[in-house]
Amino acid sequence: MEISIALKAGEAAATVPMYEQIAAQLAAQIKGQVLAAGTKLPPERQLAEQCGVSRTTAINAYRRLEEMGLVRTRVGSGTYVAEGAGEAALPMPWHQLLVPAWQSPVSGIIRDLVAMDAQGTGISMATGMPDPRMYPWDAFRELLGREEMAMADLGHIATEGYGPLREALAARHAAGGVAAGAENVAVVAGSQQGLYLLAKVFLNPGDYVVVESPTYLGALQMFQAAGARLLTLPAAGPLQLDLLEDYLIRYRPKLMYVLPTFQNPSGRVMPLAERQALLALAARHRLAVIEDDPYSDLYYDQAPPPPLKALDQHGGVIYLRTFSKTVFPGLRVGWVVAPEAVINRLAQEKQYVDLHSNNLAQWLLHRFLAGGQLDGHLAAARGEYRRRRDATAHALRRYAGDRLSYVAPGGGFYFWCRLTGRATTRTLLAEAAREGVSFVPGDAFYPGTEGDKEFRLCYATNDAAGLQEGVRRLARAVAAAEKQGGAARTGAPGPRPPII
Ligand SMILES: Cc1ncc(COP(=O)(O)O)c(C=O)c1O
Repeated sequence: MEISIALKAGEAAATVPMYEQIAAQLAAQIKGQVLAAGTKLPPERQLAEQCGVSRTTAINAYRRLEEMGLVRTRVGSGTYVAEGAGEAALPMPWHQLLVPAWQSPVSGIIRDLVAMDAQGTGISMATGMPDPRMYPWDAFRELLGREEMAMADLGHIATEGYGPLREALAARHAAGGVAAGAENVAVVAGSQQGLYLLAKVFLNPGDYVVVESPTYLGALQMFQAAGARLLTLPAAGPLQLDLLEDYLIRYRPKLMYVLPTFQNPSGRVMPLAERQALLALAARHRLAVIEDDPYSDLYYDQAPPPPLKALDQHGGVIYLRTFSKTVFPGLRVGWVVAPEAVINRLAQEKQYVDLHSNNLAQWLLHRFLAGGQLDGHLAAARGEYRRRRDATAHALRRYAGDRLSYVAPGGGFYFWCRLTGRATTRTLLAEAAREGVSFVPGDAFYPGTEGDKEFRLCYATNDAAGLQEGVRRLARAVAAAEKQGGAARTGAPGPRPPII
């Protein structure tokens, strides 16, 4: 058969070898299905004559096409266009290949909030971030310049974390009443990873988990994505232990996730007697309790009661901590304190994810702790956040009056506010965006449909002047939202037509 090939002459011919030019033109015709699968191509001698090249050049062109999988040579018969060679390449069907993701109704809100913070537009009182101006970066820089890191510490380390840091954390806990050795501590990439790993090692889809309601939205999303069924205990007032006991008997939940100290978002501190009663009930039913405690070092009036982990006689509490709120979140260092059996299983699971957490951050934190600098930093942070808490309370009283109700928190990062009038948080969110101030709407913290009158304000990120201005804008937004009532709220409960 005759095939059409036009070879370049002159300079172009000198830069691209003849056999490549012939191969490229034949490849284009095969891919474009001008030459169909199974077509017999001219013998090498004929191709050489047609193109005015040597037979070796023709042989090399066919070899090249064979390497590309576009032709097959049958011994004694000739060269043929390969099967499937001309099929048009379809785009990768990524959406069909990916496992369907659990879609949280609030994950879009969170991404937007983080984006707004990152852009630095407006005054954000939304994400629970410490103020970057308070990061102890000078101390870290000094440590990096002054202290030698052993080269061995830059290689792979144990999955459970950097040994000296694990020991220092265990010693700190032991001094605070939590009996733990290094073997009870696993360093994780932020307490969010700790939570994720705990869900991985404890939960099968369909297992029940007891959570407070409202609670930390990162935990809610993660448990729901793990396929857990959530049983909720109201978090606003005293823990309803009767209801918890009902759950324990009726559903046999696998885990309880609880924030006893400066709860996120409500700010509540569980009193000592309530902690003891919870532990007694959990022990009776052999309920494993995950105690998440990012905020207990950040108290502004009196120190909170000991953590559940320190009061636990039964050994059923898994304790989750982080440096994200006290030092800075980009370190991505949190840790889990638990019985060795749990730590070992957790480490196995962590190995699948990242082998171990970042050494440099762990080394820096260890030096920071060993040099006694953490306590000084915490004392300074408590003083500054106390001022900010007071500035926020003052501004809320001054600008919002009785349009909002809240309890000033004794620690942590948040005011949990309730709209007392007709407005809902969704209408307020739109008005607040116009004013250039942001917060997290309450429904993000509930697994169900509650929270449309509540919202969380973070007072850690801005200084007192910024907070005063933020609350002033917020109060204007509240006034505007009150005029509209709940009209603009999306997804309001009520009769809905079926979706078909
Ligand atoms: C209650 C709670 N748990 C866990 C986290 C996650 O923290 P980390 O940065 O250590 O992953 C946060 C952060 O906001 C939190 O508030």
